[in-house]
This record gives sequence, structure tokens and C-alpha cells, in this order.
Amino acid sequence: MDSSFSSSLAATNATTTNTTSSPPTSSTFSPPSSLLIIGSGVFGLGTAWALSRRPAFSNCSITVVDRSDPNTNVFPASDAASVDTSRIVRADYADPAYAALGAEAQVLWRQQTSPTDLGACGRYHESGLLLVADGVPPPPNTPPRPAIIDKTKLTGMDYARYSWANVLQLAAQNPALAGQVRETPDVAAIRAEARTGGGSSGAWGYINDGSGWADAGASMAWLYQQVKQTGRVTFVAGTVTSLEHKGSAVTGAKLSDGRVLSADLVMLAAGAWTASLLDISGQAVATGQVLGYLDITEAEQAQLSNMPTILNLSSGLFIIPPRNRVLKIARHAYGYLNPTVPQTEPLPQSPSAAATFKCDSQQSVSLPLTSASDPTLSIPAEGAEDLRAALREMVPLPALWDRPFTKTRLCWYSDTPTGDFVVDYHPQWQNLFVAFGDSGHAFKFMPVIGDKTADCIMKSCPPEFKGKWHWKPANSSTVVTEDGTRGGKPGLILAEALAQR
Ligand SMILES: Cc1cc2nc3c(=O)[nH]c(=O)nc-3n(C[C@H](O)[C@H](O)[C@H](O)COP(=O)(O)OP(=O)(O)OC[C@H]3O[C@@H](n4cnc5c(N)ncnc54)[C@H](O)[C@@H]3O)c2cc1C
Ligand SMILES: *[C@@H]1O[C@H](CO)[C@@H](O)[C@H](O)[C@H]1NC(C)=O
Ligand SMILES: *[C@@H]1O[C@H](CO)[C@@H](O)[C@H](O)[C@H]1NC(C)=O
Ligand SMILES: *[C@@H]1O[C@H](CO)[C@@H](O)[C@H](O)[C@H]1NC(C)=O
Repeated sequence: MDSSFSSSLAATNATTTNTTSSPPTSSTFSPPSSLLIIGSGVFGLGTAWALSRRPAFSNCSITVVDRSDPNTNVFPASDAASVDTSRIVRADYADPAYAALGAEAQVLWRQQTSPTDLGACGRYHESGLLLVADGVPPPPNTPPRPAIIDKTKLTGMDYARYSWANVLQLAAQNPALAGQVRETPDVAAIRAEARTGGGSSGAWGYINDGSGWADAGASMAWLYQQVKQTGRVTFVAGTVTSLEHKGSAVTGAKLSDGRVLSADLVMLAAGAWTASLLDISGQAVATGQVLGYLDITEAEQAQLSNMPTILNLSSGLFIIPPRNRVLKIARHAYGYLNPTVPQTEPLPQSPSAAATFKCDSQQSVSLPLTSASDPTLSIPAEGAEDLRAALREMVPLPALWDRPFTKTRLCWYSDTPTGDFVVDYHPQWQNLFVAFGDSGHAFKFMPVIGDKTADCIMKSCPPEFKGKWHWKPANSSTVVTEDGTRGGKPGLILAEALAQR
């Protein structure tokens, strides 16, 4: 076993490898001399931004690599989860820790005085969020969710009422918010708050006019500019095919063109692609989610101009208010699995597994399939029908109900069993930090998640996320997210769903 290693970038940081394979749990932290971040989504780019401004990292060379087209040098890649026309920005969470983090992020989303502020230039819109669910409405004064709860039992209605309780608690400390949240106890109230002159049935919910949505593509472009302006980060356009390691330590990454990027510390933030590089069975699974975009007229947009985002937690279906005459409908569901044998063997769960690995035991894992690699890709009929159902239920404009989608998209989550992110040092491999498992809800934290992740890298993870963001012992290799927000059926296979007409 190596007691030290050298690499082109690793210079000062004496990376000593334990002879026992104990995980790097030491509370002491000494900054690496070089850091390689794989992936420039919300997690990767956000962390680069945070670390580039930390004095402790002032001598650390930071490199970000992404599957960007070298000619366009766009970070992140166009099929990343972090890029789209819109993402909901809310503090409406069943879990108090995420509710507080959402509120913290919103302070920054709301900054729009100067064009360089995050929320300016149409990057953030506070048009409200109507959160509804089916089932038996909750009793009045539901207390906030207990800190420790078996999340696997949450239904959409559970999620909605705990979220309502959390938002009431946030409102108790914030008079402005108090004036913005209202319960919608029945169909009539839901319809009134949908502000479209009709549409939306269902049992119970609430409106939060202090929630909004962000133009995800434009916001990521803003973030990329912020990072570039620090002058501290080197961007590399390239596809990582494998993680390099020596003994029990990860030393860098190999690119498809043969280049090797070496670093003292490697941060893997490849979103739904993570399983192509590292065995994360039992931790997270890539699930494909359906989106549809509809071109609408100026008059139709005007009719919907006051609508909030409507999110039905029982079906996972949601509609974001239209902009630029485009209406987007999406489904936050269990999603599709796309079992694929990775082109290169992912780094195994542990160095000892690496030593005994046999080449003929290639396992398939769910990996993203996007229109970037298959321009003919469309969404399964089952998903398209669900999007239509949402349109019919939520938007009282019959002229839209059968209008063909202008564009559809499969967007990929990295889903964990509880919906918690995995932001931690790898328990077995040294010099490897991971940030994946976004579980379809990380975008809103864009302005703050990098700092929280940086805290974890510096071994002072925010206490409220300590038990949540850990690499957890896996009980099963099958991962299904049961956080109470998902619609549809678990375990659908993309190829089978696409084959059905
Ligand atoms: C349809 C949909 C709707 C959503 N709605 C919301 C919402 O309303 N509100 C909200 O807060 N969140 C929402 N989310 C979730 C949010 O978008 C994600 O949680 C977040 O963008 C994940 O960021 P990430 O950095 O983990 O992943 P990504 O943004 O996917 O970034 C990963 C990056 O890694 C790169 N990469 C992967 N493999 C390699 C490789 N081998 N070599 C080099 N680079 C690589 C990719 O190109 C990509 O740029 C939604 C997500 C989807 C898909
Ligand atoms: C960075 O390097 C300079 C010059 O060697 C040194 O004085 C300084 O203390 C270093 N900073 C950190 C945070 O290590
Ligand atoms: C939520 O979705 C369920 C299941 O599709 C549906 O029955 C219900 O009417 C919807 N509720 C609202 C308020 O849209
Ligand atoms: C595995 O099971 C244990 C005991 O039931 C539980 O505490 C733990 O959270 C489970 N881990 C995962 C990843 O579900």
C-alpha cells in the first residue's frame, strides 16, 4: 500500500495513506494544493465559487471539468439537470432543515437591484406557489414534522401539511411572509388561488406568494460568470471516463481523449451520471423525468399572467407560469430507469473490491439518456399523457389541451432513498469527496449550496444536515425515493415505456 504518491498538481499536501482502510473521519482539515471538480452543475460550480473565495483555499489550484463542447465552452453541459427554462424556488419543505436552507437561498434570489444581482434580468420571479394534494385534509394546527421521522411513510398530503407547518413557523418570524401564505382548505379556495379563472380540483393545500421560480439556464450562466471572474478556476471541457487511483487513494481523472487530470482532492459532482464513474449502488439511482413545452399566444399568456406555480404532490405534476409565450409542464415522479452497462468500469465501493475485481462481471446501472446523445429522443406516451392530464386539470384554456408539445425533454435526477443529498467524503477511498443525490430539488439552493458543501469539505458540515448528507450504509441496491413528493409508479424502465404507444 502506498504511503505517499506524487502527481503533476499534487505538491505540498503530503497525502499519507492509512495502512488500515479507515475512512477519513479526522476533524482536522488541511486544504489540498489542488482540487479537481468533476461536473459543473449546481453542486460542482457552486462549490468552485465558494472555495475560490475562501482564504484557506487561496493556494489551491481549482479545476472544473464538464462534458462541455470544447468549441462552445459552455458550463454546465446543455443536458445537465441544472439547465432549463425554469426551476421552482421555495422554502416549502416538509423537512425543517431544507425549509430553512430554502429561506436562506431566497434572500439571495430576491436580490435584483443591480443587473449583476442574481435575481435580476428575469432570473428570478416571485409569482407564488400553490401546493396541493389529494386525500384527507390535515387537522388544524399540525405541528412541524418531528426532526427524526421515517421518511419512507410520507404521502403527498403528509408532505403538504408538514410543509405548511414549516412555512407557518417561518412566517411567525417574518411578518412579510405571514401576509403571503394562505391555506386553501377546499376546491373552491384552490381554484380561487390558482388565479386562472378556473382549473385545478383536489382536496387541500396552501398558497405561498413568497415562493417563486428561477430561469435555470440564465442563473447557471450568471454563476459561471461569477466563478470566471474570480480568476481562480480553470475550466476544462472534456468527458471523464474513469477516476484514477493509486492504492486506496483517488489521484485524478482520465478523460475520453486520453488526458489525465491529477489532483490532491477530487470532488465528484456528476449528478445523474455519477454511477458511470463510481459504484454508488444503494446510495442513489438516476431517474428520468418528463417535461413538455407548449407554445402559447400572447393572449393566452395574458390569461395566465397571475397564476402561481401549481404543484400537485399527489401526482407530482406541476406547471410553472409561462414566460416568452412558452408554458412548461413537468412531472416530479419516481421516474424512468435506464439500465446501461457503463463504457468503463466505475470505481468500486472500496479499494479491496478494486483488487478483486473481475472484468466479466459488468453490472448495468441506470444512466441518463438525453437528446444530446440521441437527437430523436422523445418522452414515453405514458408521461406525455400525464402532462396532458395536468394541463386539462390546472389550465382552464381548452384550446391548449390538445396542442402538440413544441419540445419535450427527459431530465435526470440522482435519487436517494430519503431525498437527502449525499455530500461527504467517500467512506473507503481517500481524497475523494462526493456531492450527488440531488433528488430533484437542489436547484433552488444554488446561491448557498456551494458554501454548505465547502463547509463539508472543510469537515464542518452544517449540523442540521449531519445525519442527512452522510454516505449511509446501504441496505439494498434498489433505490426508490419515498420523500412524499413523487407521483407515478416506481421502477418504470425507459426503453419499455418508450416502446409503448
Ligand atoms: C425536470 C427537473 C425539474 C426540476 N425541478 C426543480 C425545481 O423545481 N426546483 C429545484 O430546486 N430543483 C429542481 N430540479 C432539481 C435540480 O435541477 C437538480 O437538483 C440540480 O440541478 C442538480 O445539480 P447537479 O450539480 O447535481 O447535477 P447536474 O446539473 O446534472 O450537473 C452534473 C454535471 O456533471 C457533468 N458530468 C457528468 N458526467 C460527467 C463526466 N463523465 N465527465 C465530465 N462531466 C460530467 C454533466 O455534464 C453536468 O453538467 C429539477 C430537476 C429536473 C431534472
Ligand atoms: C499560501 O502561500 C503563501 C506563500 O507560500 C503563504 O504565506 C500562505 O500562508 C499560504 N496560505 C495558506 C492559506 O496556506
Ligand atoms: C392532484 O392529482 C390527483 C391525482 O392525479 C388528482 O386526482 C387531483 O385532482 C389533483 N389535485 C389538484 C388540486 O390538482
Ligand atoms: C438501513 O437500515 C437501518 C436500520 O433499519 C436504517 O437505520 C438506515 O437508515 C437504513 N439505510 C438506508 C440507506 O436506508
